[in-house]
Amino acid sequence: MQTVAESIYDHPTYYDLIFGSDWVTEFRFLEKVFQKHVRGKTRRLLEPACGTGRLLYRMLKANYHCEGLDLNDKAVDFCNKRLERHGYKPTAFVANMCDFTVKKPFDAAFNTINSFRHLTTEAMAVAHLRAMAAAIRPGGIYALGFHLTPLVGPTTDEESWTARRGHLQVNTHMWPRDKDPKTRIERFNLRFDIYRPTGSMRIDDCLVLRSYTYKQFAAMVKKVPEWTIENAYDFSYDADEPIEIDETTEDIVYILKRQ
Ligand SMILES: C[S@@+](CC[C@H](N)C(=O)[O-])C[C@H]1O[C@@H](n2cnc3c(N)ncnc32)[C@H](O)[C@@H]1O
Repeated sequence: MQTVAESIYDHPTYYDLIFGSDWVTEFRFLEKVFQKHVRGKTRRLLEPACGTGRLLYRMLKANYHCEGLDLNDKAVDFCNKRLERHGYKPTAFVANMCDFTVKKPFDAAFNTINSFRHLTTEAMAVAHLRAMAAAIRPGGIYALGFHLTPLVGPTTDEESWTARRGHLQVNTHMWPRDKDPKTRIERFNLRFDIYRPTGSMRIDDCLVLRSYTYKQFAAMVKKVPEWTIENAYDFSYDADEPIEIDETTEDIVYILKRQ
């Protein structure tokens, strides 16, 4: 099999085939948390690290105004082409989520499945929360979903997904490469095996993510006083069931409230 060492984000078709079908529970959950936690109406949404726009596209379909930004121009292009195909304006743009500005503030923002952990330093994470504070109006929220490092108990480090469309089949596997508790940098191998009738191909990627315990995250949020932690949920995405954060908490969606 031909193998290339590349970023999976440079292959939006394969990324979107694997993750793109998984949106319904997140979408319903987000709508409910907007109703529950945003003061006033929610009309304007922002998705930092929107990738291929699997959620952004559904938000537009549900009549929200939704814009997204991502560092990867191929993902943004994929996202905008899909929007235009379906009659929407191409509202995704290329930008760094640590350093961007918007013309008009948004009511709420969402950023799920660990994208936030791509910011590998405290300075980047703080810069991101500052840029988000400037982009969201007071009373608005930022739903931020990622994996914490539990202080006790096991961590979920290995995951596999598979998807098929027509003659295209993609199998993926993610497993840990190394973790440095001092720098809090964790590296994960990510493998995409792609099968087509015309041949197969393997993409080997390495995700570099920063780790957070719940205490480290809370301390970081305190550095940006425009945000407070209003509530938290887990990846069961049940907006009626907020969770108590404790030493075992791993998957989490923080609801940050814009003061
Ligand atoms: C796991 S994907 C998530 C994409 C999308 N939010 C979703 O739910 O499918 C992570 C995305 O974060 C983007 N990303 C990483 N670092 C970024 C940064 N500094 N600014 C903006 N986007 C970034 C990557 O290009 C990638 O598209």
